[in-house]
Amino acid sequence: MRIPCRATIGAVIVAVSAVASFDDECDRSGGNLLQSFAQARRAEKYAWQSGRGNFPNFAVAEANGPFNLSETLSWSWHHPKGRFHTLTWGTVLDHQLNVYLSAADGLRKFDVDGQLLWEHHTLPAILMNAPAIYQGSIFASDTLGGVRALSMSTGKLLWHSNLSMPIGEDNGFTMVHEGVVFTAAGWRDPSPMGPANHMVKALNASDGQILWTYEPDAPVWNFLPLFPDRDTFVFQDMTGRVYRLSLQGKLLWKAGGKPGTWTDGGAALGNGMVYAVNNNNPPKQLMFHSEHSPGTLSAYDLNGTLKWKITTPRPPNNAPAIGKVQGWSGLSVILPICKQVMQGATCEVQAYDANTGGLRWVFHGPKQTGPLQAGDFEGMVDRTTSGVRPACLPNGWSAPSISSDGTVFVGNENGPMFALRDADGDGRVVGNDEVSSFDAKAAFSGSASPAIGNNLLAVASCDTLFVFKG
Ligand SMILES: *[C@@H]1O[C@H](CO)[C@@H](O)[C@H](O)[C@H]1NC(C)=O
Ligand SMILES: *[C@@H]1O[C@H](CO)[C@@H](O)[C@H](O)[C@H]1NC(C)=O
Ligand SMILES: *[C@@H]1O[C@H](CO)[C@@H](O)[C@H](O)[C@H]1NC(C)=O
Ligand SMILES: *[C@@H]1O[C@H](CO)[C@@H](O)[C@H](O)[C@H]1NC(C)=O
Repeated sequence: MRIPCRATIGAVIVAVSAVASFDDECDRSGGNLLQSFAQARRAEKYAWQSGRGNFPNFAVAEANGPFNLSETLSWSWHHPKGRFHTLTWGTVLDHQLNVYLSAADGLRKFDVDGQLLWEHHTLPAILMNAPAIYQGSIFASDTLGGVRALSMSTGKLLWHSNLSMPIGEDNGFTMVHEGVVFTAAGWRDPSPMGPANHMVKALNASDGQILWTYEPDAPVWNFLPLFPDRDTFVFQDMTGRVYRLSLQGKLLWKAGGKPGTWTDGGAALGNGMVYAVNNNNPPKQLMFHSEHSPGTLSAYDLNGTLKWKITTPRPPNNAPAIGKVQGWSGLSVILPICKQVMQGATCEVQAYDANTGGLRWVFHGPKQTGPLQAGDFEGMVDRTTSGVRPACLPNGWSAPSISSDGTVFVGNENGPMFALRDADGDGRVVGNDEVSSFDAKAAFSGSASPAIGNNLLAVASCDTLFVFKG
């Protein structure tokens, strides 16, 4: 349907949503009006703009989430043919708390009450990463090396760019900043972990044109670029080496990392610093090592100077979140640690002082009960018949997110989604005032970072999207 601009313009004054329909559906004559609407759109503030939240306080929400997860599930969605007919990954929220979900078979938009508004199918190209929304468009990358932009309002394809190289089957984040889309690409041997993404690519968000390619010293894994300001970005490679580049792709500095190692983890920004993780043992050793195989959490200033580093008692296999948490002053680093896919192993969430690395609290998660992570074995046949990968095989924990009241939300490989707070500051997270949980009966991917907006929390397990409302 074609909407005359004038009518839409009237509606815009009362409903910001009409701005979104303007570009996609209205007659484009009248350039100055278009410009003023482009400006209005820039002012739109999405609640959770990327899989990892909003610039500049990534992984930290301005809103509260519902603490009591067992009481507040509002709606959920899984593939209509059954729970295991796709794999679900990252969630983002727009200004109206519409939920956008990336899944192995495509992208979907739901309104705040769970009504499916549109879906966009991508098979045989498989999506693995969390999407990002930016100025009316949603961006995603796929295993066949395609990067695409869709209209947020209609789900219509705006552009598709072929990188002519595969993008790997890890769970990263497609991110957009200042008109530039960032993706990992170039899935090939060798790396300490077999095939991996050797390149970082930047595309123009308005037309998909490839702007530049950067090849780090070691491949990236679960690529997660983050932006300390308008002009630069940081990320880490699979060995924990940190890079800061300009948005034009020029290296400013790189530091740290342990060559020959691999982590499922990523970097974090906050406290005027960049935090990175690495495993201390190479993958072969890690495989046979106990659940206590150590890793390292390093803190650098934004010029790349190492400020401190600590040894973690278990593999640091997801990105930390940096924020203010209940019961503790200043900022904390919330780091999930886990030797994943190990029957009987326990995973933990640890909190450290963001300035010093001093340990603040520890939460002991459940043991992995089955030989595989929750939901993985049960879904293999359905996933295979639906043309998606047979198993999720994710990190031991989702990426953690922190709400404005200092609650940590994080999903565990044995099924529970947790809300955690050390309310009394005693270093332990226990009891009904400090822990609530919801059993998703499935593990959570590394690109599942709970999206938080105004008393709403949207998170995907490996097979289902759950939305909680306070
Ligand atoms: C992308 O490019 C490659 C190599 O140039 C080609 O083989 C492939 O068919 C293209 N994919 C799409 C979806 O256009
Ligand atoms: C993207 O392309 C548009 C034209 O299509 C251009 O105006 C803009 O400067 C480009 N952005 C970047 C970051 O190169
Ligand atoms: C980085 O270096 C610049 C110039 O040397 C200095 O002014 C700035 O304070 C440094 N920033 C940090 C975070 O150390
Ligand atoms: C959640 O709410 C239920 C019912 O009100 C209550 O029994 C339970 O203790 C609450 N859990 C937490 C962690 O507050």
